[in-house]
Amino acid sequence: KRPKLVVIGSLNMDIVVETNAYPQVGETITGERVRFIPGGKGANQAVAGARLGADTTMIGAVGDDAFGDELLSALRKDGVDIAGVKRVAGTASGIASIYVAEGDNSIVVVPGANGLVEPADIDRCEDKLKEADIVLLQLEIPAQTVLYAARKAKSLGKLVVLNPAPAQQLPEELFGLVDYLTPNRTELSEYTGVDADGDALEPAIRRMMELGASHVVTTLGASGSAYLNEAGELERIAGYRMPVIDTTGAGDCYNAALSVALASGRALGEAVDYASMASALSVTKFGAQTGMPTDEEVARFAKEQGK
Ligand code: RIB
Ligand code: NA
Repeated sequence: KRPKLVVIGSLNMDIVVETNAYPQVGETITGERVRFIPGGKGANQAVAGARLGADTTMIGAVGDDAFGDELLSALRKDGVDIAGVKRVAGTASGIASIYVAEGDNSIVVVPGANGLVEPADIDRCEDKLKEADIVLLQLEIPAQTVLYAARKAKSLGKLVVLNPAPAQQLPEELFGLVDYLTPNRTELSEYTGVDADGDALEPAIRRMMELGASHVVTTLGASGSAYLNEAGELERIAGYRMPVIDTTGAGDCYNAALSVALASGRALGEAVDYASMASALSVTKFGAQTGMPTDEEVARFAKEQGK
């Protein structure tokens, strides 16, 4: 049976500008290339979820501009149910202005319609939420809406996964509603005030759990993942080293894969490894949504790794 995933979050058009160097303040430089690629953490996670084999519903908002059309058709093409994505008249769709230079990227997000996702939009999709096995959230829509959605999902008895990105001030109640919280090291440090970049990974995870999350899975990029097992011991799952083309959306892929695997009843350790493999494959391709792997591709990769 296909797992049922509901993703509540953002849709952005990623405007990816490739340059040789970052411009200095006040400087004008000539770039190499620009591409327009559907993105946004929510939509990326929805596309990844669908490719990885889940019946996926997206709840969010776009504007009534041309980007909105493209963002919706990208989701449709991957079989994501978009009935829960509203179109807001007179508003721009979200964009992410991404500069790729010197092997790195920097991003400015302008939320547009994403900033207008409200509790009523969640209520309108109650039937979808009732059918869901798992509800996946991130933080590019208003935090109050995320909180409302988490409360509602919990009251319906659903598993809630929160990808707490981008890091921001959050109502503390939110953490207590989360079954699986998936910060990267930087986010973990910001939410706990414990420097998880040093040796303090384990205390930082413990602190995060004290703040209320039932499980905390920390993503460490190519170094893999870490979480506390049932016995309360730190468990590390190795990552996979890949030729990197574009890491944009790798975290989104990870979150979707983890959610799909958990919704299919896999144990946490296995689900984390599946997420690592999926996100490793995603960095080998350009673009956030365009680079998401399919379930078959992950299965093939697992075989190659001797699993
Ligand atoms: O997580 C990657 C996404 O974050 C990009 O697609 C961009 O839209 C930004 O919001
Ligand atoms: Na990619």
